[in-house]
Amino acid sequence: MAVNSADVKTSPNKNTMKKTITDSAAWKQLEQHFKQTQSQHMRDLFEANPDRYKDFHIQLDDILLDYSKNRITEETRQLLINLAKESGVEEWREKMFAGEHINVTEDRAVLHVALRNRCNKPMLVDGVDVMPDVNRVLDKMEIFSDSVRSGLLRGYNGERFKSIINIGIGGSDLGPQVVCESMKPFAQRGLNAYFVSNADSTHLQETLKQVEPESTLFVISSKSFTTQETMLNAVSAKKWFLDLVGGDKAIAKHFVAVTNNIEAATDFGITADNIYEIWDWVGGRYSLWSAIGLPIALYLGMDHFEELLDGAHVMDHHFKEAPLEENMPVIMAMLGVWYNNFHQSQSHAVMPYSQYLRRLPAYLQQLDMESNGKTIDREGERVEYLTGPIIWGEPGTNGQHAFFQLLHQGTKPVPADFIVPCISQSPMGNHHRVLVANCFAQTRALMHGKTTSEALDQMRDEGVSDDVIDELFAHKVFDGNKPTNTILFEKLTPKTLGSILALYEHKVFVQGVIWNINSFDQMGVEYGKELAGDIQGELSHRDETKNYDSSTNALINYRKDIYYNHFDRRDYDKDNK
Ligand code: F6P
Repeated sequence: MAVNSADVKTSPNKNTMKKTITDSAAWKQLEQHFKQTQSQHMRDLFEANPDRYKDFHIQLDDILLDYSKNRITEETRQLLINLAKESGVEEWREKMFAGEHINVTEDRAVLHVALRNRCNKPMLVDGVDVMPDVNRVLDKMEIFSDSVRSGLLRGYNGERFKSIINIGIGGSDLGPQVVCESMKPFAQRGLNAYFVSNADSTHLQETLKQVEPESTLFVISSKSFTTQETMLNAVSAKKWFLDLVGGDKAIAKHFVAVTNNIEAATDFGITADNIYEIWDWVGGRYSLWSAIGLPIALYLGMDHFEELLDGAHVMDHHFKEAPLEENMPVIMAMLGVWYNNFHQSQSHAVMPYSQYLRRLPAYLQQLDMESNGKTIDREGERVEYLTGPIIWGEPGTNGQHAFFQLLHQGTKPVPADFIVPCISQSPMGNHHRVLVANCFAQTRALMHGKTTSEALDQMRDEGVSDDVIDELFAHKVFDGNKPTNTILFEKLTPKTLGSILALYEHKVFVQGVIWNINSFDQMGVEYGKELAGDIQGELSHRDETKNYDSSTNALINYRKDIYYNHFDRRDYDKDNK
């Protein structure tokens, strides 16, 4: 399917006749194969091969990926792996681990794998081993988090820290947040972690209502230290703190920063000792493994943070070494390509059957959509195929009572990942058995469906009259053949979570390679930011705005009318009391 053509032309110097992945032999074979197999039903594939599960699963430590409930045969898998090979997945993987500047538009290395390089062998960026820096910052994080957690380091008046407020957005929020939320059972008693990201002051205000300045530690997390929302919240938090506490010297005990922009953090008033460094080769949405993970170390302890790194390292090693056919991230990526580019599915759902993982879909949205939501390829040409899907999801079982209807009987194909632990971190009565049963029931129902004869038999068994059967049976039929992956593991521990997050990072990486896009920039976010700056200026005065299209002008002017009238009336009421 061709994406919409737009009036933006790529450079006249570029070779518009260049060959793309869709011209490759592997792609063409997959197109052919798709035509031949698109009417196959997974029900029949399971019937024809009683060992289907055996043939289509991968296990890594306690993590099991069952991908047998996908619309594939062994031939499909082989063709997809051929495509991965032909696209250069192995070569690009080498380049990433070798610290080459694969972020071509920003001319940077992409080396988040060095942050969890637990075997500590040298990893080079521009010929320099980054491991001494990585270890230095990890040591600094350990000393600080241990001191805060033990009560050695306290607030300005000697009170123990009870609240950590992370102020950041995007990767500087979602990464540490998904880990802290998922790992609550490992948190230290009496210590709370809060995450403030939104420019809407409600977010900060409602958080501040829950804490006391004397026992609150603020972590200002921003790689750039220029992000508008983060700076807005950081300045307001500092003002709140100073208004209540007074005295700039207290800031040194209550504010730390994580950034690549040491100068800006210093200008903000944070002392050098309280600045935790990250590097330009750490992308924002890949940064939770760096000092951006400081709230994780504070909330869960450095030992748990290191277990998280260990888990990611296990997945890195697997991704680097396992043959593509047995490689979890590669298989998940190629299944995604199969649905995205051949079945033309537009979205991909993620259903964690774990309340602790409730923020995982939001985290994966940034990871995947900011990485692969691109239309221009690495050579600056417009792509002619679909790239990154829309990622969405909710924890099970909640989703079942909201949008699963569409998954089962809607007209849109939605491949989905179901993620579930075998053992609960918070066991209570029968809850977990019910949860797991629902998860397995959903993937079974989505795969198998319910045939007309099964629906009829069931209605007859239930004693439904023939008239009602005639009227209703079509509504009781489920097509099935809806693909799912199931990721099953022993228990949600820091190590397992580390592996799962790294699994998705590498999946996104592989897909970016197939689509020949740079997964490591995010220029699409910039335009909105520029315009917001202009419009902010427009909103700051009463004169009518005429600079934009009629819709934008009208919205700005409508808000101005209401806003300024509101304040005028308030002043009038006050003066006339
Ligand atoms: O949304 C754009 C983005 O640059 C993300 O990639 C990043 O995670 C987020 O903003 C926050 O950036 P920073 O850490 O520089 O404040």
